[in-house]
Amino acid sequence: MNKANIKNIGVFTSGGDSPGMNAAIRAVVRTALYYDLKVTGILRGYDGMISGEFKQMDRKSVANIIQRGGTLLKTARSDEFRTKEGRAKAYEQLVNNGIDAIVAIGGDGTFTGANIFHEEFNIPIIGLPGTIDNDLMGTDYTIGYDTAINTVIDAVDKIRDTAESHDRLFIVEVMGRDSGLIALRSGIGSGAEAILIPETKTDINALIHRLEISRKDKSSKIIIVAEGDDVGGAFEIAKIVKDKFPGIDTRVSILGHIQRGGAPSCMDRVLASRLGVAAVEALIEGRSCEMIGIVNQKIHFTQFSNAIKHNTDVNSELLKIVDILSL
Ligand code: F6P
Repeated sequence: MNKANIKNIGVFTSGGDSPGMNAAIRAVVRTALYYDLKVTGILRGYDGMISGEFKQMDRKSVANIIQRGGTLLKTARSDEFRTKEGRAKAYEQLVNNGIDAIVAIGGDGTFTGANIFHEEFNIPIIGLPGTIDNDLMGTDYTIGYDTAINTVIDAVDKIRDTAESHDRLFIVEVMGRDSGLIALRSGIGSGAEAILIPETKTDINALIHRLEISRKDKSSKIIIVAEGDDVGGAFEIAKIVKDKFPGIDTRVSILGHIQRGGAPSCMDRVLASRLGVAAVEALIEGRSCEMIGIVNQKIHFTQFSNAIKHNTDVNSELLKIVDILSL
């Protein structure tokens, strides 16, 4: 059964936290125990691997966490792991602590590091996509994305009350340094009048034209802008709009890190649980250097090097929907 003869799996979270990471940790720990393997929590991502911050996990150490946001194992973005010396220290710590396989939960930075680490030391590593940005290839959804977009639509629904009451235009900035997928889906879900994303060139004149022709009896207007949009963030867009339409009462709202927190949705909990089980089973089967995702409801494996390729294709059907429905 245990083809790879693995004895002790190390699990860590790295990069920006995302709701559902705890559910993924729980699934990895409980699956490892189910297969009679030891499982070690590595604290603070690659930094903790380098400094040897390890803790033995048991069934109880992951009790009562499936519903919690954040990550019990803490997370970090490690500069030291980018160096050859840092990675050598990390490997030495793993060997000294008997960790012979890894589950890495994070985003593109995490898998870039994992890919190099695997090339250098050939330790089996499987990745789980944990980021609110949903910007990895090889999975329909990343762990945390569903919760984040629901947080955004809750916030925009509330903002809409003020926009409606005061006849205001709100420019709402959502996360997504390189990706507009949070903006796109939450924009459709909240009935936004326009959505500005990094993957498409923002035509500010077209936006202004849209505002000019939009129905006069429409009292509230919401524009959702992803933080990485090419024109700039919400304040830049608001300045351009205010210069052109000094008569429109315009406000900016930056949602920020509330998008990364909170209890994971059911969808994220189930996704994290499925992927966590699959990760341990994949290591046992001798797989490595791959991210596990879900494509068309089925478990799907993607090489790290492909998972981190940035996908700039946006679903044109979704973009069209915004145009049609914001009449
Ligand atoms: O988790 C991904 C992300 O939300 C990006 O969209 C955003 O730019 C970034 O994290 C900000 O992260 P931090 O504040 O931790 O640097």
